[in-house]
Amino acid sequence: MIGRLNHIGIATPDVEKAAKVWCDLYGATKAHKAFDMVEQGVRVKFVDLPNSQIELIEPLGQKSPLIAFLAKSPAGGQHHVCFEVEDIFAARDDMRAKGARILGTGEPRIGAHGTPVIFVHPKDSGGVLVELMQTSKESAQ
Ligand code: CO
Repeated sequence: MIGRLNHIGIATPDVEKAAKVWCDLYGATKAHKAFDMVEQGVRVKFVDLPNSQIELIEPLGQKSPLIAFLAKSPAGGQHHVCFEVEDIFAARDDMRAKGARILGTGEPRIGAHGTPVIFVHPKDSGGVLVELMQTSKESAQ
């Protein structure tokens, strides 16, 4: 079973401007320094909330998967939700056994928190792109 909500992913054309909204309008007090994930084609900036985080993601490079998203929603919008799991391989195998599709090769990759993640196809979750994130860096297997 999935664990706690880790973060909400929000696509935006500009992570700095978007962070300002979450701080100025909603009173978030901590926005982390932005960083680039070149392989994933995203620039990332986390904003802390009392019980979770917002992950602001901006396209990085011409092959960014966010370019198509922002073509449909130029102002940005909610992109994915991320839940914690103890063991990413067990979570993946469980999802597959239940008929859900894992995006990409299905092999976990290192996410923005430096731990392994997978993404479950939105068509298997009522249109919601779901990221599952192992909380520890070491493989549980
Ligand atoms: Co995420």
